[in-house]
Amino acid sequence: MQKYFRDQETLKKCRIYQMLLENATEPHLSFHTPGHKVGGWDITELSFSDNLSAPRGCILEAEKEIAEILGAAKSFILTDGSTCGVLSMLYAAKSLGVKSVALPKNGHKSVFNGCKLLGLTPLLYENEAPASACTEIFDVADGILLVSPDYYGNVPDLRWVREYCDERGKLLLVDGAHGGHLHEDKTRYAGTYADFWVDGVHKSLPAFTQGAVVSARTERCAAALREGVDIFRTTSPSYPIMASVEYAVKYPRNVELEEAAWEFQKHPRIQSNDDWTKVCALFGNRAFDVEKELEEEGIYAEFCDGNVLMFYLSPATKLRDFERLKTRLTELFERYFCSPEKQTQRIPAPLVLRKNGQTEWVKLQDCAGRICAADCGLFPPCVPLIWAGERVEKDKIELLRKADNVFGIHEDKILVYKEETGYEKR
Ligand SMILES: Cc1ncc(COP(=O)(O)O)c(C=O)c1O
Repeated sequence: MQKYFRDQETLKKCRIYQMLLENATEPHLSFHTPGHKVGGWDITELSFSDNLSAPRGCILEAEKEIAEILGAAKSFILTDGSTCGVLSMLYAAKSLGVKSVALPKNGHKSVFNGCKLLGLTPLLYENEAPASACTEIFDVADGILLVSPDYYGNVPDLRWVREYCDERGKLLLVDGAHGGHLHEDKTRYAGTYADFWVDGVHKSLPAFTQGAVVSARTERCAAALREGVDIFRTTSPSYPIMASVEYAVKYPRNVELEEAAWEFQKHPRIQSNDDWTKVCALFGNRAFDVEKELEEEGIYAEFCDGNVLMFYLSPATKLRDFERLKTRLTELFERYFCSPEKQTQRIPAPLVLRKNGQTEWVKLQDCAGRICAADCGLFPPCVPLIWAGERVEKDKIELLRKADNVFGIHEDKILVYKEETGYEKR
């Protein structure tokens, strides 16, 4: 555990960690779950360990302190990823009367699945455009969901959307799966503006994978959110993950690293953005080659989209490791030329929907020109690259074939409609 929880000063402030330290290091005879019977930190709800579902002790205190740090009326610790937070906040919005939600086209699959599951009408807007250009969609939606920051570190105009929502009485939801660290910078932080927001603390802060927080701005929103969390959250939360969420939220800034990362964003081959934790290096169509070369030296990026190689930092990144990355990238920029254009995010073709259409799985190399029947894309960022209803294009197939990880694809096959006719516009 010490390997993961290194900052001693932060640990002193962590309620769940201290509870585990006091109680879980003493061996006891386990006739309780989990079944590995090894004991230690991976325990269950025992008389001393409190209960995430109805906390009364250290977890309640930890959640209160997290809410205070994040500026929320109420925050819930999650051990099932930001996905659980997204589903819970969509549920809460629905229970407050929301029937349709404006969603960005670069939304994560959990957002689209949440709408499907809850019967909410998704109204897609162009995330590339400034928020003020999306009012045609925003005007007809009951709630607005923003992704902030996105996987490339872009933060939308949160202040403008908050004012817009206030004027029209709409709810604002922010998927901050990549913005857990931003509570240190209130002007860019989701919690300064949103009614409901998710902080994916396992991505940009030092929490274990799946650690996240979902928060509500007011008591009324908190009551609705509690219902959502009770439905979607596991009843067997991992104590190490819970402890790591508290640790991550309380983790201090790494100002030296932040400054170095901002400075590197000035490089013409780094795509500048609003978030120091996302280093987006432009390599054009050589990006996969560069990714492989770096992996041979033991340097792994977060993802490659066939143009950008994205390197994810957190306050726990060592400055010397960042310096090594910088040096290698600077060398590679010389060897792999690519014009420093802003990355163009792929805007899907007009969406169509076919009711009751018959589908079949077809090999990737054979599906160009067919109509896709299930969203699929690169993993990460888990944003649909080809939407259900969209005609499959050759260059997207190439990208899916090159990528190490994908979603919505099975055994190199993609789900397509059998017939060409009878589509309805979405
Ligand atoms: C924007 C966004 N929202 C939500 C999620 C879901 O997060 P998790 O994988 O923690 O469930 C992700 C995951 O990559 C994401 O990128």
